[in-house]
Amino acid sequence: MKFFIDTGDVAEVKEAAAQGIIDGITTNPSLVAKSGKKYRDVVVAMCELVDGPISAEVLSTDYDGMLREGHEWAKVHPNVVVKIPLIADGLKVVKILKSEGIRTNVTLCFSPTQALLAAKAGAAFISPFIGRLDDISETGMDLIEKIVTIYNNYTFDTEVLVASVRNPTHVVDAALLGADVCTIPFGVLQQLIRHPLTDLGLKKFIEDGKKIPV
Ligand code: G3P
Repeated sequence: MKFFIDTGDVAEVKEAAAQGIIDGITTNPSLVAKSGKKYRDVVVAMCELVDGPISAEVLSTDYDGMLREGHEWAKVHPNVVVKIPLIADGLKVVKILKSEGIRTNVTLCFSPTQALLAAKAGAAFISPFIGRLDDISETGMDLIEKIVTIYNNYTFDTEVLVASVRNPTHVVDAALLGADVCTIPFGVLQQLIRHPLTDLGLKKFIEDGKKIPV
């Protein structure tokens, strides 16, 4: 499973990339707004740090606007994947961009039928938001299971990108289900690294290391 970092913060990308665990990046308007920086500047900086798919979202919701923004994002860097919301005009834009060789990540997916439509339109990635389904007392991971099964049934090449990840269990469950990608906030990535037994064991090694004659 590929690991993307889900962030609008370039410093987080730099640190996670140095840790050697990042295959790509996803952003969204809410994440970039927190940085206080210009959207394009953030994405350009990210493209310099990670050589992998970098999703940048359109802000328009009408066909012409989304298509124009998609073309603008595609010019920023060959690694930029255009993030398009899962709405009717969005599917049209996905189809056109695909015919032009521009990859898309269809976002705000909350049902298997939406995922099926995105794949049929030609999305490179589908982003089901599992944490937000958990928030409304559904089981987000059930959606991942259904989408993985449906895509495998028909050999769609759309990659299942698990989004709205909130904890390490989401990452493990996504991997068990065979999701292609998990996009993970920086804090959760750091949680994946740490284990109390690692800390305890290291403390003992350091203490015992001091007893070794030099
Ligand atoms: O990748 C989508 C993600 O950023 C949404 O996460 O936590 O706002 O539901 P969240």
